[in-house]
Amino acid sequence: MSATIIKGKEVAAEMRAALKEEVAALKEKGIAPGLSVILVGDNPASQSYVKSKAKACEEIGIVSEVIRRDADITEEELLREIDGLNENPNVHGILVQLPLPKHINEKSVLNRISLAKDVDGFHPMSVGNLVIGDECFLPCTPYGIIELIKRSGEEIAGKHAVVVGRSNIVGKPVALLLLQENATVSIAHSRTQDLPGLTRQADILVSAVGNPRFIKAEDIKPGAIVIDVGNGVDENGKLVGDVDFDAAKEVASYITPVPGGVGPMTITMLLNNTVEAAKRMNRL
Ligand code: GUN
Repeated sequence: MSATIIKGKEVAAEMRAALKEEVAALKEKGIAPGLSVILVGDNPASQSYVKSKAKACEEIGIVSEVIRRDADITEEELLREIDGLNENPNVHGILVQLPLPKHINEKSVLNRISLAKDVDGFHPMSVGNLVIGDECFLPCTPYGIIELIKRSGEEIAGKHAVVVGRSNIVGKPVALLLLQENATVSIAHSRTQDLPGLTRQADILVSAVGNPRFIKAEDIKPGAIVIDVGNGVDENGKLVGDVDFDAAKEVASYITPVPGGVGPMTITMLLNNTVEAAKRMNRL
């Protein structure tokens, strides 16, 4: 039987509609949730991501500003920019678009963002809080993945989750969140021996490596929930995920497509975190 397709785009639209109402209600109380995004340099992918984030904010009523700085900005200048945003009561969320130019220390920059405004969840202290299960802003893509699995109605607790990929942005945090939801978690990576042997044991398989269609149907346990975080391009220029979707959907019970699966959830969770930050700052 063919898998149920987890339509991230539809879930994201539902969540954004609810957030829009929440923002309107906050504005009636005199609170206008605000997000500031800092973009350094002219990396085309970063420019496109930042544009999408600003548009999504506008659509639901979050006040957003994009602060563009030349690639030759000094680290000190960038840190001062962040200090200003940390002190600005109208700014509830701060996001520094990565990657940064090589002469700037990414860790120092992320460290400078006030924890209360760290809507990306990349501050080392937010990461630490995630590890120990304390309250913190969750990084947006992993948060979106957990939301998609929960909304499928399937239980996470007790299942064997295999995460392929160990990046700080997706692999590691999604593994921690699955653990927090009481899954038994394995993390696989480029040095894992017999990767197909491991993925075939996964009740929940999350792939975040960016290798087009490298997970084949025969690598998937029948009935598994398959979450595809890849967004690569195939030989025909088509946007594809890590999973060979057409074949895999005949084996899995639930599967996310690319595009239209995890992707739309990332910005949605950023909006969610920004609204949450505004509420927390106003003790709501
Ligand atoms: N670069 C690529 N993805 C992201 C993201 O989610 N947040 C930030 N800050 N930079 C990124």
